[in-house]
Amino acid sequence: MHSKLLSVRRATTLSGIALSAVLIVHAQGAPPVLEGKTADQFFKNIQVLKGTPAEQLNQTMHLIKGDLGLDCEDCHEEKDRAADTKELKETARKMMKMVIELNKNSFGGEQTVTCYTCHRGSPIPLNTPILPLSEPEESSKITLPSVDQILAKYIEALGGEQAIRQITTRVITGTEELPTGPGGTVPMPATIERDLKAPNLVLEVHRTPGFALSNGFDGKAAWAQDVRGRVTEALKIDQMRARRNADFYEPLDLKQEYAKLEVRGVERINDHDTYVVVGTPQGEPPERLYFDTLTGLLLRRESVLSTAVGNSPFQVNYTDYRDTGSGAKFPYRITMYPASARTELGTTSTLRVLKVQDNLPIDTAKFAKPASAATAAQ
Ligand code: HEC
Ligand code: HEC
Repeated sequence: MHSKLLSVRRATTLSGIALSAVLIVHAQGAPPVLEGKTADQFFKNIQVLKGTPAEQLNQTMHLIKGDLGLDCEDCHEEKDRAADTKELKETARKMMKMVIELNKNSFGGEQTVTCYTCHRGSPIPLNTPILPLSEPEESSKITLPSVDQILAKYIEALGGEQAIRQITTRVITGTEELPTGPGGTVPMPATIERDLKAPNLVLEVHRTPGFALSNGFDGKAAWAQDVRGRVTEALKIDQMRARRNADFYEPLDLKQEYAKLEVRGVERINDHDTYVVVGTPQGEPPERLYFDTLTGLLLRRESVLSTAVGNSPFQVNYTDYRDTGSGAKFPYRITMYPASARTELGTTSTLRVLKVQDNLPIDTAKFAKPASAATAAQ
């Protein structure tokens, strides 16, 4: 279980808004046999996280580490993580119970409260009360536009529906740091090629001098291929998100993507006023979309990732929108905090787009999920 993890982000789409579902692939070491097992079946000393998927435990630990600003060894013996020798581990168990109970009893089972809600990156929470998503003051003074008006302006800003619909394939090339190592804390420079084809096909390949990693959405499911060529499907909880994000015309389909959309107010982001729109996908926690009040473009998307101990925040920022050459705009710089939805808080990763090519012919067969192999395609 202590083999190095390599987390890889999956696919944005036409507007580059999504980028959230993430696959964890093992870069080295023997293939884990923990699939299909619960944490208590696979690990030795699980008392609170009983019944949760074993394959999520390591991620959960890294989230806790980042949420609290601690090291694994503050709670564990390095040689035996099952040992109960550290007081902080016992405290953490009590806190996990509290969080699980709170979410169950006070938030209708939604993963609303997390370690981060109180801890904000430090072991002893600051004495400042963290208020739930508050209404910005301006919203009472100004008349906010409707959801429809904001979305219509966004589509105009991207070049208009007609320009967007004329594009049926897109190839994005650029550079990006891959979050590698435990918790994704070691950034590794990589090149990226992301091929997209309507209605919802995605193939993404990251290359470093030493290895290649790919992942995609084949129209049905999200998959990832690790350095050894082993292909796995994304975790169940990531599949819904991957499906939404694979939509080639996502900017045009935002109203269908969310069961509920609401305008919440105005917030300032990097010297730009934005309209904050909260969108709730069916059966998933709400996301926040920030649209520039002047240009109409989407500047930020915030979502959370459900884990056994609550939701972990994930923010994607879009800047440097440019015309790709086909009359539609795309953000040429996309920054993620943390580096992926499943890496530790405090990590970051930037996709710097070098080239966007629209309407190149791409054979649909290219998007087929590859067969799991012993050797990776380079
Ligand atoms: C704040 C304390 C805390 C930190 C930090 C922490 N853990 Fe844990 N860890 C726990 C607790 C508590 C459990 C037991 C959970 C339970 O009983 O359900 C646990 C269980 C585990 C287990 C299962 C051991 C077994 O066989 O029973 C592993 C493996 C593990 N942690 C790895 C890690 C790694 C790797 C890190 C650093 C990335 C880490 N933990 C950081 C508190 C922590
Ligand atoms: C409702 C707020 C709240 C939430 C949610 C919360 N904690 Fe805490 N936690 C606290 C407070 C307050 C303290 C400090 C208690 C004290 O001062 O002794 C604390 C202390 C701790 C400590 C001891 C730190 C130290 O250095 O002594 C650990 C470990 C810890 N929390 C783990 C967690 C974990 C893991 C989670 C998520 C599963 C979590 N907490 C969620 C409020 C919270």
